[in-house]
Amino acid sequence: MKKDTIMEVEHLHKRFTSKGVTVKAVTDVSFDVKEGETIGIVGESGCGKTTLGRCIVRAYQASEGKVMYRTAAGEEVDFLTVDKKKMKEIRKEIQMIFQDPYSSLDPRMTVLDIIKEPLKANFPDMPKSEMDDRAKAMAEKVGLNPAYLMRYPHAFSGGQRQRIGIARALIIEPRIIVCDEAVSALDVSIQAQVINLLEDLQKELGLTYLFISHDLSVVEHISDRVGVMYLGQMVEFADTEALFSHPMHPYTEALLSGVPVADPTVHIERIPLKGEIPNPANPPSGCYFHERCSYCTEKCVHEAPELKSMPDGRLCACHRAEELKLRGFTYSEE
Ligand SMILES: Nc1ncnc2c1ncn2[C@@H]1O[C@H](COP(=O)(O)OP(=O)(O)O)[C@@H](O)[C@H]1O
Ligand code: SF4
Ligand SMILES: [Mg+2]
Repeated sequence: MKKDTIMEVEHLHKRFTSKGVTVKAVTDVSFDVKEGETIGIVGESGCGKTTLGRCIVRAYQASEGKVMYRTAAGEEVDFLTVDKKKMKEIRKEIQMIFQDPYSSLDPRMTVLDIIKEPLKANFPDMPKSEMDDRAKAMAEKVGLNPAYLMRYPHAFSGGQRQRIGIARALIIEPRIIVCDEAVSALDVSIQAQVINLLEDLQKELGLTYLFISHDLSVVEHISDRVGVMYLGQMVEFADTEALFSHPMHPYTEALLSGVPVADPTVHIERIPLKGEIPNPANPPSGCYFHERCSYCTEKCVHEAPELKSMPDGRLCACHRAEELKLRGFTYSEE
């Protein structure tokens, strides 16, 4: 692993099989994560984002591949194959935050107990008073009023519940946080507050984020680099600015053209995404995107494009990437 790299996902696959049908939810995904950066993962619903995140934290067992991780102690390990004891240690360093904080918060526990729970599970010898102190300090750090910690989750708003989820994930001092649609269920104004909080915490604590979202404007705002997934595959992976201003994959272009523009006087020509996402149990031949792609050629129907390095260093999986001039997220005024 390179010195500044904290994690390397290598050729990760996840297949789900039930009743004799196999769904390839994640196929051969590879990317690296630098310490302290935010990687955005985007794509339509069903393209494998959650499955990828869950495999990385070992909530799902990947079918193939590695997740190389540099531990706090400086060791390089494949997190997917370490033994149980080591896995428990490393799990403290890699935490996940979910979309719906409500369903993941036990309604019968006080907020203080919810935030404390990971300490109890991971540091059973820690004195109770220290746990309480830490939980209170963490609650304050994420903007919760410490006076309300004896209340139950139902008494809190969606934004506050997401803060509870963040506090609980941070209490054991992780280094990497996988945020799965962490702000998607919140109103736009509350979204902005939670994103600001995540950014402040990142700066203060040196955290690395894997930020999974179907919302491109949120991802553009928060990410240093962005990976675009389609039907379980990574089709483009680039610096945020480069990806949004000059996408090289037709799927990225189509996603960008669907981003709503707040200003009604601004006109953008939309490149509508034709049709539905194909069934991942029965993917198309050649390029998985070919049935929906405006630039499809004969070759695309038969030959799967590889994810290749482009002249500017980004990765893109399209036969025509270097010849097409695609439109980014810039609008022309009418
Ligand atoms: N536990 C599961 N069992 C079977 N199929 C699953 C499971 N989880 C996800 N899938 C399938 O894997 C694909 C990717 O799903 P998911 O990772 O949830 O996508 P996303 O988060 O991008 O919406 C979908 O086709 C979904 O139906
Ligand atoms: S390989 Fe062909 S079908 Fe696939 S995205 Fe590129 S141009 Fe479109
Ligand atoms: Mg999801």
